[in-house]
Amino acid sequence: MKAEDIKKITVIGAGDMGHGIAEVALLAGYRVAMQDIEQRFVERGLGRIKESLDKLVEKQKVTDENRKAMLGNIETFLDIGEAVKDADFAIEAVPEIMDLKKKVFEQLDAAAPKHAILASNTSNMSVTEIALTTKRPDQVVGMHFFNPAVMMKLVEVIKGEKTSEETMQTTYDLALKMNKVPVRVEKDSIGFVYNRVNAPTQIYLSLLVERGMVTPEEIDARMRKIGMPMGPYELMDYVGLDVAYYGGQYFAERISRDYEPSDWLKKKIDAGELGKKTGKGIFDWSKGRPEIDLSKSKEDFDPAVLIAIQANEATKLLEEGVVTSAEEIDKAMASGGGSGIGTFQMARGIGFEKLAGICEDLAREFGVKVFEPTETLRKGNI
Ligand code: 3HC
Repeated sequence: MKAEDIKKITVIGAGDMGHGIAEVALLAGYRVAMQDIEQRFVERGLGRIKESLDKLVEKQKVTDENRKAMLGNIETFLDIGEAVKDADFAIEAVPEIMDLKKKVFEQLDAAAPKHAILASNTSNMSVTEIALTTKRPDQVVGMHFFNPAVMMKLVEVIKGEKTSEETMQTTYDLALKMNKVPVRVEKDSIGFVYNRVNAPTQIYLSLLVERGMVTPEEIDARMRKIGMPMGPYELMDYVGLDVAYYGGQYFAERISRDYEPSDWLKKKIDAGELGKKTGKGIFDWSKGRPEIDLSKSKEDFDPAVLIAIQANEATKLLEEGVVTSAEEIDKAMASGGGSGIGTFQMARGIGFEKLAGICEDLAREFGVKVFEPTETLRKGNI
């Protein structure tokens, strides 16, 4: 199937990502089915789509007429089979729990038309493993959006071991039709590109707080002052501390025990403080986005440390053949978040020798092997 043949898209899950992906599909002119397990979840998702479309009408990016047409193009369901029975393309966006994803894919495979492609919006997990629960692993692919899906440009298109080239190409072209910046991930590797490059910074951010070396506000104020739209701790809250926690566990089991979620993070999860979605996380979200007091900025915190950790991890993706070039990594890193600039672009500005030195110091100071500089970072010829 070609992207031109796709008319109807089903999204499984109406939460942070699901409702955003459904909205992206509506904006691109598709008919959409959105499913969740309870009526209140689908209603909340639909409400959020309406709110977001209102904002776009206000900004004159969408006409009122178009908004009405889009809301006429979406149907909601509680039953997966009903939602997917006449879909050309399905995107799963349920919580990051492998068994849950597998169950959803079994149901999708049983009910979706034979030609339909089944995509997972998983943040980190093996597309190959998910695909094995279906009788069409060649038509299963990773299609990873970023939060908020309407605003963030990147879509990672991930090749599972059995994913066919046709499925990859159709998914890539669909992302283009959705006005996104797709990046091909050639090897099904944990965390893919964007989340893998960012993963070790979460180890570092947790260590800093746990050891009482900084407060989240001091770092966020510093990063906001140098132009980031959102500091790294606020971003963890925005995406969800549960996502950070389960992601950390998944990385710990498969890449390195260094990723084991910290006690600091675990306490937040146990207290049900998951960030924006529960009104409290690292910051208080009960009145909307937290006010970050820029006067608290920790001026002696060097942002190059974060770039060193990210650039080092990015070199591992090159060494492992997860993407074909440093440019692809930069494209992903510039489009997935709010920075608008690639990791290697920033790294070149600072100098690889300095960054390798920072990584060496960090690995020694914190006893974290993941921070140790790679040969590629040391050589610096990127
Ligand atoms: N729909 C429509 N418009 C929206 C919107 C939405 N869902 N969310 C924000 N906007 C609009 C706002 O209305 C506002 O419009 P205005 O400028 O006309 O007032 C504009 O976007 C800017 O929003 P805000 O004023 O609220 O604040 P910011 O300027 O900080 O923008 C942000 C918000 C776009 C979220 C920005 O802070 C940002 O880019 N943050 C970083 C996000 C990021 O890094 N995401 C990646 C996370 S990692 C991930 O997703 C991985 C996955 O696996 C979980």
